[in-house]
Amino acid sequence: MISRDTIDEVRNRMDIVDVVSDFVTLKRSGQNYKALSPFSNEKTPSFFVVPGKGIFKDFSSGKGGDAISFVMEHEGLSYPESIRFLAKKYGIEIKEDARSNADQETSGLRDSLYLVMAFARDLFVKDLNHSEEGRGVGLSYFRERGFNDRILEKFELGYALDEWNHLEKSAIEKGFSEEILEKAGLIVKKETSSYDRFRGRVIFPVHNLSGRVIAFGARILSKDKQVNQPKYINSPETDIYHKSDALFGLYFAKNSIRQADNCFLVEGYTDVLAMHQAGIENVVASSGTALTEQQVRLITRFSDNVTVLFDGDTAGIKAALRGIDLLLAGGLNVRVVLLPEGHDPDSYSRSVGNQALVDYLKNAAKDFISFKAGLYASETGSDPIKRAESIREIVSSIAKIPDPIKRTVYVQETSSLLKVPEGVLITELNKILLRERKNQSQPQREEIVQDPVVYQEPQPADRTDPVQMVQEQERETLRLLLNYADASVGETHLAEYLFAELDDVKFSNTLYAGIFSEVRDRWSRGQVVDSQHFLEHQNPEVRNLVADLVTPRYHTSDHWHEKYQIYFPGEKEVVSNLASGNVIRLKFRLIQSLIQENLSKIKTAEESGNDQKLDECLSRHYHLKEAERALAGQLGIVVAG
Ligand code: UTP
Ligand code: MN
Repeated sequence: MISRDTIDEVRNRMDIVDVVSDFVTLKRSGQNYKALSPFSNEKTPSFFVVPGKGIFKDFSSGKGGDAISFVMEHEGLSYPESIRFLAKKYGIEIKEDARSNADQETSGLRDSLYLVMAFARDLFVKDLNHSEEGRGVGLSYFRERGFNDRILEKFELGYALDEWNHLEKSAIEKGFSEEILEKAGLIVKKETSSYDRFRGRVIFPVHNLSGRVIAFGARILSKDKQVNQPKYINSPETDIYHKSDALFGLYFAKNSIRQADNCFLVEGYTDVLAMHQAGIENVVASSGTALTEQQVRLITRFSDNVTVLFDGDTAGIKAALRGIDLLLAGGLNVRVVLLPEGHDPDSYSRSVGNQALVDYLKNAAKDFISFKAGLYASETGSDPIKRAESIREIVSSIAKIPDPIKRTVYVQETSSLLKVPEGVLITELNKILLRERKNQSQPQREEIVQDPVVYQEPQPADRTDPVQMVQEQERETLRLLLNYADASVGETHLAEYLFAELDDVKFSNTLYAGIFSEVRDRWSRGQVVDSQHFLEHQNPEVRNLVADLVTPRYHTSDHWHEKYQIYFPGEKEVVSNLASGNVIRLKFRLIQSLIQENLSKIKTAEESGNDQKLDECLSRHYHLKEAERALAGQLGIVVAG
């Protein structure tokens, strides 16, 4: 177990903005920060970080909590692993308490996978640098390709010995199970035997955003030997590795992508290494396959600009260009660089040198649409059929761009490049847009989200459902309690006031009830109301709800305020009124739901001819109605008889 001291130190040191920024690019918004949610595929930011409270809240997925919860959610780690993660980030020494091994069992499968992958990486690195075979074959291969020690170290490159069970044996000796080795994709199990997946190859680890190894790519050493073998063998999909949302090199690139506000996109592992060695660090690789939407979204977390490098063989170029539409659709500004004939970034930097590569990238980068238009313009000549085809081809890319203003600019540019009247392009563009719109079952986002509303209360409760109306008030009680426990209400504190007023009230929503009574218990033991405690609660539902409740609301327009009860900063001044209003409303709604319940009892009693029961219920009805009227009077509402 990690010692309490270590946990406290981590909690003191951790900074929510700093922690989240390792994964998401935050934009300032008043006192707070906002960004596109890393947990969902959204186009309008609804992910908030509130530094004053040390929390994040993601309204699109409902997740929320402190920096520890963020690491747990984002990295899929257990609580202790998240503490370790943060301790490492802040250079805090981890002290362990006595009961050590017990929690190894309880930490999840993912934690074990990270551990075994880290073990494998260390073994591959050691075998590259310290075994005879590794040095003789692996290291000399890297050297031959011109990679220096700094690059080898930084990317943690390694070598897998050409043996059937070397990794498996070493790992099992260290206490890893065969099962976890298989789940990590490190060994392949057959009915009666098993063997290492990677053998006699140089190893490229794939890191996730926080620098943990989640997969390996293993390259064969020479082309002519064993021609029937694939050039690369890669890790299979595992619980920690999903190929479609990983990008090779992103961990090493993210800061410089942010700084340069641009991301270079190349094809292969070796291209990334070559670019780094040339001093260009804002580069990631798609690993040879078509990009996925998730990968595009990953890039947009760090920059809106991407420059795609194409190998210089024009044969494949048009097919490759189609993959770019996904980048456009993701809202990225795309530029392209076509490398000289026969070169990829790696071979080009080796043949002309680092500086020449840097210069080339600077000068040869072209805006994607113009590049594509230029490519087609030079080929179409006067053939009208080909001309129509290329117009359609280019316009279909323009149609992918979500921003209508950008689309207009591109139409103008394409018009002059292709010498086609704008009107022709616009007609074609509208045809495509209309067709796509028809295919979409959902209405266009742009059209419905006009109001810059950043927070909406959960769907306004159904006004005819008394239970929902009660729960809406229960939620409000909790919100006031968690935010303003110390505020004064009359002679006392808000917390005292609520506990006293609601002493005999039982919350109908079990989640709310649990939190309310936990706060009350803690209070009665002299502990202050501490939302932090709930932000680290073991129940994720509690964490999310509390994060939600302690995130400040934003006032937009009076209309929204009335309709959705959006609160605004400054409510502190009126909190006393809010609290008494809430107590009355909660009781009022409770009475109403009791009336509703009683009415149905009356009905059953009538139907079954149970007169005694009927009398009881009727008398109860009058009592409840009286109470309702009294409360309604306080609220200024007139109640129907
Ligand atoms: P390349 O064939 O261009 O490889 O494939 P490379 O990394 O540039 O290697 P060198 O420079 O020729 O030695 C590009 C990427 O496609 C994936 C790898 O991610 C590779 O980096 N790939 C390629 C595979 O996954 N499997 C393969 O068999 C080949
Ligand atoms: Mn290549």
